[in-house]
Amino acid sequence: MTKETKVEVNPRRVLSSGNSMLYGHFIEQFHRQIYGGIFDPDSPLSDEQGFRQDVLDALKNIGTPIVRWPGGCFVSNYHWEDGVGKREPFFDKAWRVEEPNLFGTDEFVAFCRLIGAEPYICTNAGTGTAEEMSNWVEYCNLKEEGKYAKMRQENGLKEPFNVKYWSIGNENYGNWEIGAKDQKEWARLVLESAKMMKRVDPTIELLAASISDLDWNINLLKEAGDFLDWISIHGYWDRLHEVDNPSPYETCMIHTLEIEEQILKTKHILGSLGYLNKIKIAFDEWNLRGWHHPNVHRGDWMADDIITSRDRNDINSTYTMADAVFNACFLNTCLKHSDVIGMANFAPVINTRGAIFTHEDGLVLRSTYYVFELYTKCMGDKIVDTWTSQNDFFEVKHGGKTYHVPSLDVIATTREGSENVRIAIINRHPNEKRVINIKNNIQFENGTVYSIIGSSKDAYNDIDQLDNCKTVQHTVKVNAYEAAVEVEPHSVNVLVFE
Ligand code: AHR
Repeated sequence: MTKETKVEVNPRRVLSSGNSMLYGHFIEQFHRQIYGGIFDPDSPLSDEQGFRQDVLDALKNIGTPIVRWPGGCFVSNYHWEDGVGKREPFFDKAWRVEEPNLFGTDEFVAFCRLIGAEPYICTNAGTGTAEEMSNWVEYCNLKEEGKYAKMRQENGLKEPFNVKYWSIGNENYGNWEIGAKDQKEWARLVLESAKMMKRVDPTIELLAASISDLDWNINLLKEAGDFLDWISIHGYWDRLHEVDNPSPYETCMIHTLEIEEQILKTKHILGSLGYLNKIKIAFDEWNLRGWHHPNVHRGDWMADDIITSRDRNDINSTYTMADAVFNACFLNTCLKHSDVIGMANFAPVINTRGAIFTHEDGLVLRSTYYVFELYTKCMGDKIVDTWTSQNDFFEVKHGGKTYHVPSLDVIATTREGSENVRIAIINRHPNEKRVINIKNNIQFENGTVYSIIGSSKDAYNDIDQLDNCKTVQHTVKVNAYEAAVEVEPHSVNVLVFE
């Protein structure tokens, strides 16, 4: 018999709101994300500016609210002036390749405008300086005052770009990053950079890298907290860089339980330092999988297998329903904590480990793409009170331990000006359906459930099989305040009541 769970929703009790930037993305000058990804002037699929039209359409379709660029580790050896006006290639010491510099600030901002996304620029806090960062703000945001605004105008761009979101550096706490810093150095650099950047444009919002470590944050916030609007955290969960095969579906489900810890640690640190309502958290790089390079975390950048490892990221068969279910759980977790998390950026959105895979004749939309499509089109931006009778777990044995993973993850939302409830229901269970009995304390007439399903938990999309993972839609029978919905195993669902 199919197990049943009760869910009760109170759409009039709003817990938090305004979280559309949680569906943001990240692109890096790395691998095939820019060249051969979004920007490919030689492709017949590209527009007159060199952007792949099919990629632009796919990103528009998932309502991409914000894009973080240009790195990642790349940015810690990137000098933005080389990427505007006359272009010179340089040897990128982060990824050990030649960077042609054909895609720079002007192209990034144009790309964001084309897909309707807010540009978010990450600055060089590795080999760069506070002055270089603030010059970049001048180039983007000043109308015509000074050398850099005039430089933009000479490049044919009369109006300022008004880039609102800027982060100081990337993962400068890690020894893999060019220009890594210790706690004191970091706090000082963030302070000096923030001061100069906000003197150029006081309306910008500033982010700086954080780890869930008390001392790191005490240093950072005591020194620079008054200049910061956000702190940035990153999360990658898989062990793909250590093994040759993707983790099994069940192990990925254990990782869904680990997302919340990092958020809570950061939230409590912000709270204990008195910054809870002033500084928000941006989860501005996240993905189930780490970049597939066996030596990344040994710091061995000279590995001979670097190219092979990069190409291994392109194996579509490793992007399965496990990724889709993990991603939906990540978004549900952020939505639940959207009182403190205001932004999240899937890393990256295209190629490498992204939701979209490009090839010369078109795209493969991986299972994760459909999660962004479902959430941006069907969910609301107000989290409302929900109660779930959660007593349904499955066991996973991993690394000598036994985990009890809840089968369901449920969150309900509404949209501004409407009490129609939109409920995300994730069934993590690898092979059993579930029935959800929903009670809403407002009457409704119609219900539709949109479900991302795959023929098996290991189903994936590829060039010759584009819809093994796809979204389907069903009508749900409703009875005034109540409805019952059946959800498939390893599925992501959004139920919309009207
Ligand atoms: O995506 C590859 C790298 O992963 C990014 O450059 C870095 O920020 C993260 O560690």
